[in-house]
Amino acid sequence: MRTPTPSVYIRGMGVYMPERRLTNADLERLVETSDEWIRTRTGMVERRIAAPEDSTSDLGTRAAEKAIVDAGISKEDIDLVIVATVTADQTFPSTACKIQAKLGLRTDIPAFDMIAACSGFVYMMQVANHMLRAGDYKNVLIITAEKLSSIVNWEDRSTCVLFGDGAAAFVLTKCNEPYVGILGNILGADGSQGDLLTLPAGGSMNPASYETVRNKEHCLTMAGNQVFKIAVRTMSECCVRLLEKCNVTADQIKWVIPHQANMRIVDAVARQIKVPLEKFCINIEKTGNTSACSIPICMEETYRAGKIQPGDLVLLTAFGGGFTWGATLIRWK
Ligand code: ACO
Repeated sequence: MRTPTPSVYIRGMGVYMPERRLTNADLERLVETSDEWIRTRTGMVERRIAAPEDSTSDLGTRAAEKAIVDAGISKEDIDLVIVATVTADQTFPSTACKIQAKLGLRTDIPAFDMIAACSGFVYMMQVANHMLRAGDYKNVLIITAEKLSSIVNWEDRSTCVLFGDGAAAFVLTKCNEPYVGILGNILGADGSQGDLLTLPAGGSMNPASYETVRNKEHCLTMAGNQVFKIAVRTMSECCVRLLEKCNVTADQIKWVIPHQANMRIVDAVARQIKVPLEKFCINIEKTGNTSACSIPICMEETYRAGKIQPGDLVLLTAFGGGFTWGATLIRWK
């Protein structure tokens, strides 16, 4: 398969993880849970928690600074900023505008947020890919940043053990080499089931009131069991469809980098798409579920460990609130 030039590839990567670690033992002191339950049901051991004074844009700015240095370009070279987050600093101004200002980027460039929850990274790859191919842009800064600790109900053991904070930023650039970078992308959504994973209040449907605060309706809620099954099915299906679309067989895949929501979801997806678990990159034990950040954080770590080499086919897949899901196939440049 040939991708029409220009190709869009990853030119630089940066990750920022907060210092503070919240371990399963810490959670045992907070809610009625156990290290054994969390490990066996999710694969998680610890997650990072952002400092109270840091907002999502602070986390994203730190990751973005590293990505720009890693790309070997200057801030003036960035000509579009997209941020995927469900924990924006505020509804508006967008977190992308805030990061643009904090970084001191040019003002003749667009900056916007997009919401696709845990699928935010694969959604953003698709959007950036097409904007780069079709438009005048050369270097796009895509950022995932989440301070999920700010929307977690710390009294709800079924969700508070799952999530962590973090940020990752990538510089995507176009080049004239064929068949490198983003080879294909498949996205899906099903809004009819959105209530199974939601943040109930604070929007126009259910504005903030004393009652919503008292009922903790500004915190994330999830019907974990139902979400689990839909996540496995949709992630697996879109991986299979994407490989078919790109004319690539499962055994040609070098690495799969899945959204790190639950180790049992990863296990099930591996079986469904017939790619051995050894090819799956996993860091869930250290990060928990960092929503849109989980794939890029894991990708950066895998790359820095020297495991991803030029020419490798890397498959990404995610599922998140909305519902949203998707998969991206990359040939590493
Ligand atoms: N410690 C101890 N027991 C617990 C805990 C806990 N932290 N949480 C729940 N339990 C109990 C439940 O109360 C229940 O007890 P009961 O049988 O007495 O009623 C029992 O454990 C089983 O609960 P389930 O919800 O059925 O547990 P399950 O095996 O489904 O695991 C989990 C729960 C980890 C949430 C799983 O369902 C999951 O990972 N779901 C998908 C998450 C996901 O993919 N999210 C999408 C992305 S997130 C985003 O977009 C923001």
